[in-house]
Amino acid sequence: MTIRIAGIGISLPEKVVTNLDLEQHMDTSDEWIRERSGIGARRVGGITSEMGLEAATKAIENAGITPTDIEFVLLATCTPDQIFPATSTQIAHGLGITCGSMDINAACAGFAYGYAAAFGMMLSPGGPDRVLVIGSDAMSKIVDWTDRGTAILFGDGAGAAVLERHEQGDLLGQDFGVAGDLREILYCDHEDTIVMEGREVFKRAVRAVTQSVKNALDQAGLTSADIDVVLPHQANIRIIEAVCSRLDIPMEKTHNVLEHTGNTSAASIPLAMAAAQDAGALQPGTIVVMTGFGAGMAWGTVVVRW
Ligand code: COA
Repeated sequence: MTIRIAGIGISLPEKVVTNLDLEQHMDTSDEWIRERSGIGARRVGGITSEMGLEAATKAIENAGITPTDIEFVLLATCTPDQIFPATSTQIAHGLGITCGSMDINAACAGFAYGYAAAFGMMLSPGGPDRVLVIGSDAMSKIVDWTDRGTAILFGDGAGAAVLERHEQGDLLGQDFGVAGDLREILYCDHEDTIVMEGREVFKRAVRAVTQSVKNALDQAGLTSADIDVVLPHQANIRIIEAVCSRLDIPMEKTHNVLEHTGNTSAASIPLAMAAAQDAGALQPGTIVVMTGFGAGMAWGTVVVRW
């Protein structure tokens, strides 16, 4: 008996900010943003707990269960509603449940961390039978809307997955790491906005993700050729292209939403997962790689059999 994803749900706030909207406020252009990042629009005005609750509710419905079937809630976020209580407690409250919950901050890599943590909890003695793993981030509230180096990239959103014990599905390999010495290239202090050295983050991200996917595949005893679906963190389409080219993975195997979401941090992998599900790409036995990176430079990859 191992663990599968039984249901997926997403949430995006209603307010859309297109590249053309940004052109009105800063020295940039739709053409530049699309060419350098692949992003065309992003959603803003989201609240982490509200988006997380909507995504969670949909994931529970999609799994064909009720909220009381959930035995633990893990929320990956770097934009909690408040310092405490943990935002996951508010999502649990919104669902009408009182099981354990906690927030995880691994920035944009958070969903991969949450997935592996949930898997470990569920396999431990007396562990939960069903865990809700949510990625929800309201990046628009920490973006400096006058900084064209960051404002063009980020957006708000949430995605959630219900993990449950089942004979279908497995975690085949995983790789996690951080480079805490690189704080200065991407950080956000309390009551402040995102500070980023874009070019440096780009280079580090490509290197870290490429190596991390290799490590996780090695552990799983698989090669790039065995991968059916890649759900990469959605930061910049050029990062995804560079990683795929280094790993010899056709871009068609990646599922991307960043054109209309921008970088939604911990939400981006489950948003991509929902897109892959809608495309019919996630079938029993499908080999799926989820890989993310972000501030801290935290990176994380899980290789999963669907
Ligand atoms: N519109 C127009 N011009 C812009 C611009 C914008 N929004 N932002 C920067 N520029 C200009 C720069 O000033 C620079 O001009 P110069 O050559 O006259 O100095 C030029 O465009 C190139 O800037 P550069 O920073 O080298 O561009 P880039 O190709 O590296 O693209 C990012 C910038 C931010 C899109 C890219 O570096 C990136 O995506 N990095 C990774 C960021 C990331 O993923 N962060 C989240 C991690 S989870």
